[in-house]
Amino acid sequence: MTETAEKKALLDWYVEAGVDETTGDAPVDRFVTAQSAADSAQKAQVQSAPKRTSLREAASPPPLQSRDAAVQTAQEVAAAASTLDELRTAFEAFDGCPLKETAMNFVFADGSPDARLMFIGEAPGGEEDRKGVPFVGPAGQLLDKMLAAIGIDRSEIYITNILPWRPPGNRNPTDAEIAACLPFLERHIALVKPEILILVGGTSAKTLLRRNEGIMRLRGKWMNYEPATGDPVAARALLHPAYLVRQPAQKKETWKDLLEVRARLDDAS
Ligand code: URA
Repeated sequence: MTETAEKKALLDWYVEAGVDETTGDAPVDRFVTAQSAADSAQKAQVQSAPKRTSLREAASPPPLQSRDAAVQTAQEVAAAASTLDELRTAFEAFDGCPLKETAMNFVFADGSPDARLMFIGEAPGGEEDRKGVPFVGPAGQLLDKMLAAIGIDRSEIYITNILPWRPPGNRNPTDAEIAACLPFLERHIALVKPEILILVGGTSAKTLLRRNEGIMRLRGKWMNYEPATGDPVAARALLHPAYLVRQPAQKKETWKDLLEVRARLDDAS
């Protein structure tokens, strides 16, 4: 096999294995990295450590928290944040969601915290993960156009996601990942105090409305987000723009929803 054919075969193998993008220019030899960590840990032990750490422990990351422990930590840490900056710092430091290990960036929010509308999507995709900003990829660009159609500029809204870290390969978030991050989102909503919540896609709608129905049943009507404490917030579920990119015929349903949102904003001002 020629060198080019060998490289092509290797790339084909990566694609078949589900690798859908590169995350850096230089290759990382993780075996060497883990081994050097283990070597340094062993040297440090010989010099001073009273506790004996096995090589395996030294070379592996700390164990992930159990789901209940992660949720409890998240609740305590999120409740202690009294500003958005504090919440962002605390959330970024939170170790209870394993997606943090695989994502490139922490994606907190974008837009104006004084906005009347707060949008909540599912999780960052590839473009969002690279830039650290929500809804900047193809779905985000479509969302911007849909908003422009009702006279709203992206800078006039506030936007975040259920999860701040990208699930590998854009897979669906697990219940455990959502549960670990939800206390931060609940606090996020309480600090922003939006007039209207726009729940973008089924995961966002089901999670925040605590409903089992799919997005097709949840969209098309006004509902309430009921926080554990504080007043309910009017909420409207929208089909996810990533779905609309693939199914443009459904855009008319979202158009109807957006007109309802526009009318409600106009009535209330
Ligand atoms: N889809 C989402 O739900 N959120 C993003 O930030 C990007 C795509």
